[in-house]
Amino acid sequence: MAVRENHHRHYQAKQVPLFPLLSLICFLSILLALSAFRKTSAPLQPHQSIQFNNGDRSGRSKAARDGSCDYSDGSWYYDPNLRTSKYDHTCKEIFKGWNCYAANKSNAPQIINWHWKPKQCDLPHFDPVSFLEKFRNINIGFVGDSLNRNMFVSLFCSLKRVPGEVKKWRPAGADRGFSFLKYNLTITYHRTNILARYASWSANADGGELESLGYKEGYRVDVDIPESSWIEAPNFHDILVFNTGHWWWAPSKFDPVKSPMLFFEMGQPIIPPVPPDVGLDKVLQHMIPYVEKRMPPGAIKFFRTQSPRHFEGGDWYQGGSCQRQQPLSPQQAEDLFSLSNNRTNVEVRLVNEHLLKALNGTSFHILNITPMSELRADAHPASAGGKKHDDCMHWCLPGLTDTWNDLFIQHLYNIRS
Ligand SMILES: *[C@@H]1O[C@H](CO)[C@@H](O)[C@H](O)[C@H]1NC(C)=O
Ligand SMILES: *[C@@H]1O[C@H](CO)[C@@H](O)[C@H](O)[C@H]1NC(C)=O
Ligand SMILES: *[C@@H]1O[C@H](CO)[C@@H](O)[C@H](O)[C@H]1NC(C)=O
Ligand SMILES: *[C@@H]1O[C@H](CO)[C@@H](O)[C@H](O)[C@H]1NC(C)=O
Repeated sequence: MAVRENHHRHYQAKQVPLFPLLSLICFLSILLALSAFRKTSAPLQPHQSIQFNNGDRSGRSKAARDGSCDYSDGSWYYDPNLRTSKYDHTCKEIFKGWNCYAANKSNAPQIINWHWKPKQCDLPHFDPVSFLEKFRNINIGFVGDSLNRNMFVSLFCSLKRVPGEVKKWRPAGADRGFSFLKYNLTITYHRTNILARYASWSANADGGELESLGYKEGYRVDVDIPESSWIEAPNFHDILVFNTGHWWWAPSKFDPVKSPMLFFEMGQPIIPPVPPDVGLDKVLQHMIPYVEKRMPPGAIKFFRTQSPRHFEGGDWYQGGSCQRQQPLSPQQAEDLFSLSNNRTNVEVRLVNEHLLKALNGTSFHILNITPMSELRADAHPASAGGKKHDDCMHWCLPGLTDTWNDLFIQHLYNIRS
């Protein structure tokens, strides 16, 4: 099957530029420069550009000020006179398949008129200039799959609008990176699908434990070794934002029979072999302490929750699509994503169960983008992605991940204040 061959080619050719045609069908999928923090430990100033109608004028409700606001509990409202984004489709960093405006997706102009309103407080659209002013001499890394790249591109395009020289480089193994020189702030994207190192595996003629169980081909996943693309990231960055998810529920790539994930720990195969969801737990059990040990005490670590897909009428390989022009109602989202319905996109809440269990009690902050994103069935590229299949997994840019960054930056302000 052509699709499968393509998967493997893409998979093995890791040096191929990111997100080629196949990235969709592959089912991708501060110590805060302590000194800088000390200098600016004054209380956070009210956000300047308050764009919500019914919020408190400082932009920070009582709930937000005392840190008790649940930003993930809220609803979307439409305001055609306000944009969520600070940039437009001309930002060069936007991957073509995500540029819904340039691709004439019919609702692309409206996607950025939807605003997230948490129940107990407001989520302001962050102001790039005041963000850069407050976060000088800081390195911020996004570590994860193409959905984290989508978020990284949104942040880059927002910051790029601020006048000043930008240097493009790839520090600490990054796939892409930019420094805003006037502010000495660097943001990078470290590409990794499952956080752990993996490589194709085939049976050894001399035999072995996996061979004796009948395994011939697969992928060796070392649950205790970070992928090289980000292994240096904790030493370089003051703030990291991690994600992983789609690839663990991607049997089209890690075919359970033809190319299963074969987990190794301390260089030895895990016997009896475990399924991917158990492998995910083991990877998280190793990667979380890896990061905690290497980052200085003042560093800020986030784990982003899973980004939902919105395939309806089948999965991507079954002709599924996402043609909605408006966000879902909470009931529609519940129907699509509830574990008990076990429908096409059920993995989003499954992934989150694994993440929340592994992160409980750690020093990671949770960036919970799932509930707001579950409602945004209107905000994927769909057929405007220009692929053979609808892209109901990534997000149009400008678009939803602008709000993820508003949330990320609001959390940073709250942590610092
Ligand atoms: C989008 O529409 C414009 C104006 O009609 C056209 O010039 C352009 O080629 C279209 N782009 C795509 C990708 O179809
Ligand atoms: C820029 O920031 C880095 C930390 O991210 C720091 O090590 C370096 O000294 C800063 N450079 C200047 C010129 O302040
Ligand atoms: C969910 O559905 C898939 C097939 O679509 C099936 O393999 C799996 O066992 C189901 N899971 C549960 C918990 O029912
Ligand atoms: C987190 O751990 C505490 C105790 O260690 C437990 O009471 C709580 O239920 C856990 N929460 C989750 C979401 O697992």
